[in-house]
Amino acid sequence: MVQLGVNIDHVATIRQARQTYEPDPVWAAALAELGGADGITVHLREDRRHIQERDLRLLRETVTVKLNLELACVEDIVDIACSVRPTQATLVPERREEVTTEGGLDADGNLTRVRQATRRLQDAGIFVSLFLDPDLKQIDAATAVGAQAVELHTGAYALAATPAVEQAELLKQHAAARAIVEAGLHLHAGHGLNYRNVQPIARIPRMEELNIGHSIVARAVMVGFQTAVREMKNLLSQ
Ligand code: PXP
Repeated sequence: MVQLGVNIDHVATIRQARQTYEPDPVWAAALAELGGADGITVHLREDRRHIQERDLRLLRETVTVKLNLELACVEDIVDIACSVRPTQATLVPERREEVTTEGGLDADGNLTRVRQATRRLQDAGIFVSLFLDPDLKQIDAATAVGAQAVELHTGAYALAATPAVEQAELLKQHAAARAIVEAGLHLHAGHGLNYRNVQPIARIPRMEELNIGHSIVARAVMVGFQTAVREMKNLLSQ
């Protein structure tokens, strides 16, 4: 069955809106586990707009499923990752002005930088995934830098304005997924997935892990965190 990584960044976004102590993403992680999450995902951004180092360190101590840290290829964030040692690191691009991670990492255009970050993380015992657009050139670069997995960026699929565009984007996801599996890499996906659009992505052959944040946190506001995670887990198991 496809594993569900629950991204809890936006629990921290609500806390940071008031610079206070609540809601605590550490509590959300525990509730996500109770709801059946297979992993907890957080993004420690350079501007610390949501997750803080304190959260990451407490999550490292308390999360009993996979802890996946999204990070940019920036030296001091890689230093923090190597000291905290999450189970998995997912390298992502990061621009300060963006609302969320907008595109995949340009691994092909930054081979040396991505290779160095990948090696440092792996030397610390961390499994490394790259967040990439469904672009064969980028997937070749994942092999070239020695990454162990690729997380396919599903944003274009999720934002498709018409069924025809959605179908075309889904075909791109399938083609990229085949290339990832043929290269011997583990296959993950995420971004913009929700309760309506997740199943075609979950059905891609050899899909192992989906990372989903915004739609689960949004539903949790209405139904509670544990229930929101359980409902998404049920969709993945159908
Ligand atoms: N995967 C990666 C690499 C991301 O950067 C994000 C957003 O933080 C997600 C998955 C989750 O995206 P969403 O919040 O749209 O579900």
